[in-house]
Amino acid sequence: MDGTLSQNDISHVVDADRAHVWHHLTQHKPFETGEPRVIIEGKGMRVWDQNGREFLDAVSGGVWTVNVGYGREEIANVIRDQLIKLNYFSGSAGSVPGALYSEKLIEKMPGMTRVYYCNSGSEANEKAFKMIRQIAHKRYGGKKTKILYRDRDYHGGTIGTMSAGGQDERVMQYGPLAPDFIRVPHCMEYRAQEGWNPESESYGEYAANLIEEVILREGPDTVGGLCLEPVTAGGGVITPPEGYWPRVQEICRKYDILLHIDEVVCGIGRTGTWFGYQHYGIEPDFVTMAKGVASGYAAIACCVTTERVFDMFKDNADDPMNYFRDISTFGGCTAGPAAALENMRIIEDEGLLDNTTAMGARMMTNLHNLMEKHRVVGDVRGKGLFCGAELVRDRATKEAVSEKEIAQVVAECGAQGVIIGAANRSIPGLNNVLCFSPALIATPDDIDQITDAVDVALGKVFG
Ligand SMILES: Cc1ncc(COP(=O)(O)O)c(C=O)c1O
Repeated sequence: MDGTLSQNDISHVVDADRAHVWHHLTQHKPFETGEPRVIIEGKGMRVWDQNGREFLDAVSGGVWTVNVGYGREEIANVIRDQLIKLNYFSGSAGSVPGALYSEKLIEKMPGMTRVYYCNSGSEANEKAFKMIRQIAHKRYGGKKTKILYRDRDYHGGTIGTMSAGGQDERVMQYGPLAPDFIRVPHCMEYRAQEGWNPESESYGEYAANLIEEVILREGPDTVGGLCLEPVTAGGGVITPPEGYWPRVQEICRKYDILLHIDEVVCGIGRTGTWFGYQHYGIEPDFVTMAKGVASGYAAIACCVTTERVFDMFKDNADDPMNYFRDISTFGGCTAGPAAALENMRIIEDEGLLDNTTAMGARMMTNLHNLMEKHRVVGDVRGKGLFCGAELVRDRATKEAVSEKEIAQVVAECGAQGVIIGAANRSIPGLNNVLCFSPALIATPDDIDQITDAVDVALGKVFG
């Protein structure tokens, strides 16, 4: 740490935090006797807490966000320059960084043409839901209002996105939720849905066909959209099985269903391509993104659509209701797109997509080695620098270890100076997946340090 805060200053910060800050996803009782963690500083892959302890951050800011790493002065400088020039004007007008970033972004997304700015992943998803609903009213006499979402996927913390929440423990006690959000089964082959006959079809095709079954049950003329993560993130790092996506795309086309890909985690390089969906040849109608867009240097999210979708909101200019009647106040903050432009430049200039692919492969090799050594590792999955290890008590029955044991593994890694992630309070009885998503700048030594820490932690917790 650079020492700009004295020990007294830091103690004051911790006291103020303990007295007044309501931490996210946190039960606060332990802070009545212990201290909350306060992160004071970050540089590259590393952060320092209030006690000056250094940690290698294997989860890019806890929730897969700081894709280009901490302490990037070049991003801070462009934000500063932009704020002095023009900090804000409502998104009903354009801005210089907003226009330039949209152009840059669209270059990376063949087939997409329009960028709608807002602030968070949840909000970007809400925009897509609203567009799908408005299209249902404009085009389909108010019938195609249903939005399908998948078991284990997560799309945000608002009531609308929780209604599309495939993680039951996340939505418990927050109902009633919004109507016309319909769940489809997950696509995780490791815990394959019952009824699959491997002799007759691939698991990918089987899981996709289960979506079709839901559509037929609900009535195709009532279903307007299907919202999916390209790789399920917090729901267990679920990489799609072979054959899944082509069939999903076919089903959407067959029933005239708009395909919404939630790239809030996978977008902007996390999986080694600009977007996760680009691994699978998908042609989406909506792509939403947030976290890595500006690596957390400024709040920015985007809901990106095709010209076909966009046209549906301008085709009849005589109709006073025929445009997207939505606003996001802070979607007009210029720091977001200014930071996002610089973030993208860094990823290109430093070759971070290639690095992500190479380091992701190294991490998967290391995780496979851990699987050979520790019987508790039942499965490892990943794409680029987005990897997971599922821990089970018994490989044959796949009985999950407890959330408490998972927390112990995370704590043991923390004791070695490595912050890793884990599913928590998401899927009843199945919060048993460790998550690894280091910044895209990770080096081979960083990757090895992360998996070495997990090796030691697994040995301590499970013997
Ligand atoms: C896949 C996915 N979508 C949406 C969100 C919600 O994003 P935000 O927290 O920015 O609203 C998240 C957050 O973790 C996410 O993982």
